[in-house]
Amino acid sequence: MLTLGIETSCDETAAAIVEDGVSVRSSVVASQHELHAEYGGVVPEIASRAHVERIVPIVRLALDGAGVSLGDLGSIGVGHRPGLIGPLLVGVSAAKSLAWTLGIPLIGVDHVHAHLYAGLLGGDRPAFPALGLVVSGGHSSIYRMDSPTVLARLGATIDDAVGEAFDKAATVLGLEHPGGPNLERLAQGGDPKSHELPISRLGKDSLDFSFSGLKTAMLYAVRGRPDSSGHFPRTHEDHSEQARRDLASSFQHACISAITLKLARAADANPDCRTLLTGGGVTANTPLRDALRAFAEERGLDLRLPEMRFCVDNGAMIAGLAHERLCAGIEDDLTLAPVPTTAC
Ligand code: KG4
Ligand code: ZN
Repeated sequence: MLTLGIETSCDETAAAIVEDGVSVRSSVVASQHELHAEYGGVVPEIASRAHVERIVPIVRLALDGAGVSLGDLGSIGVGHRPGLIGPLLVGVSAAKSLAWTLGIPLIGVDHVHAHLYAGLLGGDRPAFPALGLVVSGGHSSIYRMDSPTVLARLGATIDDAVGEAFDKAATVLGLEHPGGPNLERLAQGGDPKSHELPISRLGKDSLDFSFSGLKTAMLYAVRGRPDSSGHFPRTHEDHSEQARRDLASSFQHACISAITLKLARAADANPDCRTLLTGGGVTANTPLRDALRAFAEERGLDLRLPEMRFCVDNGAMIAGLAHERLCAGIEDDLTLAPVPTTAC
């Protein structure tokens, strides 16, 4: 069965063809970074318009890349929640039109849950129950999963997502959008122990995350404390290149420590979980990947890290989870609507 996966929840227009839920035949991602760079973040209306212009050519490219035509498709999956409502509407409308025209099943997929599926693409099936970690620009959550389609959230961020914190810290350091990969680059050659930045614990059993305190500490470390009129004594330009590297590295280290701290708590509380599924844009961060590998090895967990190209938003993870849902008897009809929030 060939599934077309469509993803338009934020600033990537993506489509992919996946066979039997795991074998990726093609995956095309059109990023809009250049359209939003001057605003320092994603502008929803600009994103919506770009999706409208790009969705048809991107689906065509995915079909061509897989060497198939529309008539070969067996089902269509679309990320219909969570995300920016205008961008989601474009993908959902395209998926509904195609599914109706072709007379094939339509499956709405939760984008955050799809990130957890990214590590299953191209591989064998791990044992369940599993722990799941999503660290992206919009979400930082830990799950207990009985299967890819049956999951319960154990904890989530109470303020910023970790990717969002990376992006804001990058801005404070004078780096361009998207900040995460640029901050990782700057952190190379920096000393992660040079600044002691806060790692939130939120009570001894909490599996929630908080990154706002770290974000503020980073702001003050770079720019100093503001005076009573809100004026900061320094900018990032007052630091040497090495000092900026040290700050970036310390920030990255604090984020990784916060993630592994909560994962350790989740693993302690769920000893029957022998698998760790991970996903989301921040899993493209090499020091985090290294830390997750070390954590999994220490705990004897079967770690599934997505391939780099499937860490950030893509259509393949959507197609994969859509196929999984269809196999579990879950299907949608043309009343499927975009929803800005996640299911759980
Ligand atoms: O999963 P994703 O593409 O979109 C959301 O669903 O949010 O994640 C994007 C986020 C951005 O915040 C981006 O800065 C972050 O992932 N990111 C990274 C890296 N690559 C992407 N953060 C840290 N290090 C990276 N290498
Ligand atoms: Zn995402």
